[in-house]
Amino acid sequence: MIIPDQNIISYFKRHQALFGDQLILGERHREETTAGRIVEPSPPGALQAFNDDIKSCRKCALGASRRNFVFGAGNPDADLVFVGEAPGEREDQLGEPFVGRAGILLDKILAAIDLTRQDVYILNVLKCRPPNNRDPVPEEVKQCEPYLKQQLRIIKPKLIVALGRVAAKTLLRLNESLKNMRKNSYIYEGIELRVTYHPAALLRNSNFKAPAWEDFQAIRDRYRELTGTQPGSAHPAAGEAKAS
Ligand code: URA
Repeated sequence: MIIPDQNIISYFKRHQALFGDQLILGERHREETTAGRIVEPSPPGALQAFNDDIKSCRKCALGASRRNFVFGAGNPDADLVFVGEAPGEREDQLGEPFVGRAGILLDKILAAIDLTRQDVYILNVLKCRPPNNRDPVPEEVKQCEPYLKQQLRIIKPKLIVALGRVAAKTLLRLNESLKNMRKNSYIYEGIELRVTYHPAALLRNSNFKAPAWEDFQAIRDRYRELTGTQPGSAHPAAGEAKAS
């Protein structure tokens, strides 16, 4: 007589609770998972562990001049990620992205679309401040972009927003004007990406505010569509698996 192992019994009980009496074997289950496009969340702490791995980076010259490595901040499980260009002086001082004047404006914009920093993740193409806030040079981007890609692989957002032409151009490898890029929706590493003005540009030129507000309303609507979030509640229903 074969006595079933208790582990096997409890495995099948869990399976039955999840899938009913239908026995779903490996291949089929994988197929269904792919068709349903269920995205498994990353293990807790994966983003922090990645930060610990890379925070002493010296792959380009900015590693020697920075005060702080600015990894990123926000909800490590966010469905919406904002990508800026590079840390400025204040960010370099504090080790946090978007904490200067542009960051204060970004917080206000987030509030206007019913979101907070705790709902989203904010990061930059470069993790270290370029001297005098000059534009990133190609070699810096080349060294730093794998970090951004890995961050996105861990966070698994449903929507990326590139803030400003430098971030958009860097991510999309396009030499288009910001005006053209903000009309389109793109795919970056399998994730939907939209482009809008950098908050610093809005501080410099108030003519950009009206079109930026149109973009952010469209971003809000798309985020709600992708996550099933209802107006007035920033968070998708708790406990839902990330599915796209
Ligand atoms: N501008 C950016 O692009 N990123 C920051 O973190 C701050 C200002």
